[in-house]
This record gives sequence, structure tokens and C-alpha cells, in this order.
Amino acid sequence: MTMLRVGIIGTGMALEKLHYPAYQELNDKYELVAVCDEDINKANMWAQKLGISPQNAYSDFRQMIHRPDIDLVDIMVPISQNFIVAEAAAAAGKPVICEKPLAPTPEQARHHAELPRRFGVPIMIAENYRYNEEINIISDMVVTGYVGRPVYFVQNRVVFFPGDMYQDKFPAVEWRQRADFPGGSLLDTALHDVAALRHIFGAIDRLQAFGVPQDDPFSPYAAVNTNMLFKNGITGNFSFYCAGKEMQRPLIGLRIFCTSGEIFLEERDCGTINVAHNDGRTEQISYRPQRGFYNELLNFYNAAMGKEAIAVTPEMEYGDAKTIFDILHSVRTGQVVEVDRTEHYTPGHEQPQVYHMPHGHMDHIHHHHRPNPDYGGHGHQPHH
Ligand SMILES: NC(=O)c1ccc[n+]([C@@H]2O[C@H](COP(=O)([O-])OP(=O)(O)OC[C@H]3O[C@@H](n4cnc5c(N)ncnc54)[C@H](O)[C@@H]3O)[C@@H](O)[C@H]2O)c1
Repeated sequence: MTMLRVGIIGTGMALEKLHYPAYQELNDKYELVAVCDEDINKANMWAQKLGISPQNAYSDFRQMIHRPDIDLVDIMVPISQNFIVAEAAAAAGKPVICEKPLAPTPEQARHHAELPRRFGVPIMIAENYRYNEEINIISDMVVTGYVGRPVYFVQNRVVFFPGDMYQDKFPAVEWRQRADFPGGSLLDTALHDVAALRHIFGAIDRLQAFGVPQDDPFSPYAAVNTNMLFKNGITGNFSFYCAGKEMQRPLIGLRIFCTSGEIFLEERDCGTINVAHNDGRTEQISYRPQRGFYNELLNFYNAAMGKEAIAVTPEMEYGDAKTIFDILHSVRTGQVVEVDRTEHYTPGHEQPQVYHMPHGHMDHIHHHHRPNPDYGGHGHQPHH
């Protein structure tokens, strides 16, 4: 089997807790051959852990990205640098996996959405919620009308950032506590929920949001309430509270009201989707939580082998990030904001277009057509 040789950029918590376990599970498909962290001690520690020689540990990613024996880079750096590093790697002709959000600002997000076309390289944004089993199951239920037509939803997401920062959790790092990118926790965490909602319901026509301002620099707002109208006609309310707790069980979670019943996901890791039909029947549908990291790496591998399209391209993720920037704009101005201009974007159910890795050692196994510069996006155009 063809192995893809990976250069890691950023050896922090996302590598340790999320990507590395998935790479271990896929060790017949991926080999980690080089690591970079601006803190060379961390890079060295990982080189040792991976059993690769110290020459493969870097503190400057620019020295690593040109190596011909690396097939792709996986970028897990602080949000402020996601676009800068991805652009440099794409300019060097390297296929890219880059963590979410694709960029810290609307301008950089637009540029990121154009990188695959500009440099002819495949790029996947590691938005794991779009690859999580529960979101895909719910998306299928909505698209196939499993409980009738969806009418509206409520989604409530609560994160206790002020408490989590003292634990071995993502808020423990300084760059999240003093967020130097707009929206703080909204762009970091609420982005996942927005991606999931867009994965389920598709393009958003308009939204309007209010926020409760706070002084803590991890987020400009303690809570934000957003009303959304989707292009498919359904409406919903998304509440995001990053400075407190939700103590009452069951949690509000995600509840989708449909013409023949209700779909209820209490929280990401609960393992069960509850379906209550209007005729009184109930169903508990199990899923395996947190499979997004494995599924996304498998998707990228299959795309490199020419078997399927990359499901979450920068173009796709651009819409998720734009939604967060639009929420922030609405809170600031009090205006209703247009989000997606076209209905063309629909979630997950299009014919995939196959693309081929344009560089690297797999070239010999590809004998169909040259990479389509559009390489399997879902046709969601960036807005200008
Ligand atoms: N998909 C998810 O659920 C999820 C979860 C956590 C983090 N993330 C994403 O992963 C990324 C990293 O987050 P994290 O929690 O691992 O942060 P972290 O601070 O733990 O790790 C980031 C690492 O990057 C290194 N670094 C900084 N600038 C660098 C540069 N220019 N070159 C090389 N290394 C550099 C830092 O020294 C640090 O070790 C972020 O983009 C974040 O949004 C995603």
C-alpha cells in the first residue's frame, strides 16, 4: 500500500490529543517523517517519540516544506498563523492539511479559499465536525426526510472556558486566553457548531445576532444568540455561551423539529441520537463519538489515491468562518447580515469529483486526467 509521508508543523495539543491517535490508527497509510515546532525542544521530543532522527526536527517550517520526500504537511499552529503557514506550504507545491479555522481574519480566509486554485495543490481543512458520525447521520436524516420535513432547530452550546483554562484542556494555552484574532472563542469553538449546522442544513441566507459583552480577553462576548434563516427555508436559533455552565440535564443540545417528529442530540460525545416520532415511537441511534479525526485523514488519503474528493476544502470552510465573522458583524452593528450568496452550496450529497495529488511520489499511480483545479470542492464559492 502507498504510504503518504507527512511533515508535521506545530507539535502542540491538537497533535497529541487529536491527530496523532488518528495517524496511529492509520499507520498503514501515513508515516510521520518530519516534525517542526518553533519551540525546538518540542520538535526534538516528538522526533524521539516517533523514532525519527534529530535531523528531521525543525524549528523553521520554511526549511522543511521544500523536502521532496515529504508528500504533505499537516499544520497545527495557533490560529493567528494558520493562513500564513498554509500559504507558504502551498506556494512550495506541498499538499496541505490545515487545522480550522482556515484563517484569523476575513481577508486571509478569502485568500485561503483561493490557495488550491492559485497553486494547484490539494488542501483539506481539518474541520472534524463535518466528518463526525453523528453530524453525518443527522444530515442524512434531514436530507432524506426521515422524520418529515425540517421546520426549525434550537442549538445551545455551553463551554466553561474560565474553568477549562486551569485543566489539561485546549483553553490552557496562552494564545487562546489572550485571543489576538476576532471573536476569540467564537472563531475557535463556535465555528465547529456552525460547521455542523451548515453541514446539516446547507447554505445560510441571513442571520442576526446579539451578544453579552465581557472584559475577559478569551472572547469579546460571554454569550451570543444568533437567529439564522437557511436557504432551504428553515430557521433556527444558535446560542453560544463560553463563560459559564449548563448544569441542568438533559442539556438543550441540538433539537430539530420536523413535520413528523424531533431529532435530538444532547451533546457531541453522548453516543446516542434520539428520534421521537409524532406517532409516539422513539428510537435511539448509536454512533461512535469523535471519529472526525480518523475520517478526515482517511478522506485525504483516499483523495490522494484518486478514489474520492476532499470533502472539506478551504472553499467549504470559508463559508463556516464567514458565518462567524458575520455573527460578529451583526452583534456590532445590529444589522441583519447576508451570509451565502448562492444556493449552489449544499451539504455532503453531491457527486464527488476525483482529484489527484499533483506532486510527490504517487504520481506514477495516476493515469487519468490532470488535477482539476476545482478538485472536488462542493461548489461553494467564496464571496467577495
Ligand atoms: N479540530 C479541533 O477540534 C481542534 C482542537 C484543538 C485545536 N485545533 C486547532 O489546532 C491548532 C493548534 O492548536 P493547539 O491547541 O494544538 O495549540 P498549541 O499551542 O497546543 O500548539 C501549537 C504549537 O505550534 C507551535 N508553533 C507556533 N508557531 C509556530 C510556527 N510558526 N511554526 C512551527 N510551530 C509553531 C507552538 O510552539 C505550539 O507547540 C489551532 O489552529 C487550533 O484551532 C483544532
